[in-house]
Amino acid sequence: MIKKIAVIGTGVIGTGWIIRFLAHNKKVIAYDKNLKLKKKIINEIKSSWPHTKKLFNKKKLNLNNFEYVNSIKEAVKSADFIQENAVENYKIKTQLMYEIGKYSKPNVIISSSSSGLLPTKIYSRCKFPSRTIIGHPFNPVYLCPGVEVVPGKKTQKKFLNKANRFYKSISMNPIMVKKELPGYLADRLQEALWREALHIINEGYATTKDLDRAIEDGPGLRWSLMGTFLTFHLAGGKAGMKHMLKQFGPALKLPWTKLKAPKLSKKLSSRVIKGTKQQAKGKSVAMISNIRDEYLVNLQKLRKKYENKIRK
Ligand SMILES: NC(=O)c1ccc[n+]([C@@H]2O[C@H](COP(=O)([O-])OP(=O)(O)OC[C@H]3O[C@@H](n4cnc5c(N)ncnc54)[C@H](O)[C@@H]3O)[C@@H](O)[C@H]2O)c1
Repeated sequence: MIKKIAVIGTGVIGTGWIIRFLAHNKKVIAYDKNLKLKKKIINEIKSSWPHTKKLFNKKKLNLNNFEYVNSIKEAVKSADFIQENAVENYKIKTQLMYEIGKYSKPNVIISSSSSGLLPTKIYSRCKFPSRTIIGHPFNPVYLCPGVEVVPGKKTQKKFLNKANRFYKSISMNPIMVKKELPGYLADRLQEALWREALHIINEGYATTKDLDRAIEDGPGLRWSLMGTFLTFHLAGGKAGMKHMLKQFGPALKLPWTKLKAPKLSKKLSSRVIKGTKQQAKGKSVAMISNIRDEYLVNLQKLRKKYENKIRK
């Protein structure tokens, strides 16, 4: 039984995991190389609790289950599961995984939140590669149910199954990726969109706001219920995907995508930053996150009603 979890690295994602774990009555032992984060994390737990509590129908937040320690050893030595969330950098993660492996209990899964690094590489110096995985979540981790579970070349199946069961037990829907690939699944899809968007901004066809509306008012409305494949199945009318491929198959040869990213010039960066700032209309990131969180809770409650009709 996984009761105690070590969270290594407590920035945006580490804190998100802490909130999700606490909401599911787990004990959390956190460590960050910046030892001054404890107060900030407690404030973030408290400010996101009203949304988290609503989503999971919880009553009380038990902060006694949260401990902040001063070393990796202290954090991992008694943990039943380890979730790493340090910065996205091969060198830092490889060294960290070496240390985590050294102090962890036998048979404990070591999971990294990496957004796209190859597990075989980041665990290359870890003593126990058979029980290492990627568990890539989505921000905000306390509200988004998705987690991509990616094996390295030496990961054993029994640990993948155990990770699958564990993430399900904390109200997540694990996506079991068959083998490692850079960027995994969702970030590859997001990256394709992001690169196209940067080209469009760079060449002056639209503003950041126009591009956001193009998603928010169209594909984005559908995407939380149905991904690309099921959406396009409906786009094909009665014959579904078969007709869709016949009709839009030839478009695959049209110049509808550039995919290779444009150079991130000063001019492009400034267009993107200025455009997004205008969209925020003076609201801070924390204010917009709070609105997003309230929306995500209500959206998921609504989605549950409809997804059961499609997926069952
Ligand atoms: N931000 C996102 O939307 C997102 C989403 C999914 C996954 N991720 C992944 O999660 C990980 C963390 O990203 P983030 O956005 O939380 O970053 P962040 O910059 O907010 O936090 C990183 C934290 O790691 C700490 N850290 C750095 N080196 C460390 C070390 N050696 N030991 C312990 N702590 C260390 C830093 O002090 C910092 O607090 C990355 O691998 C990232 O790719 C990020």
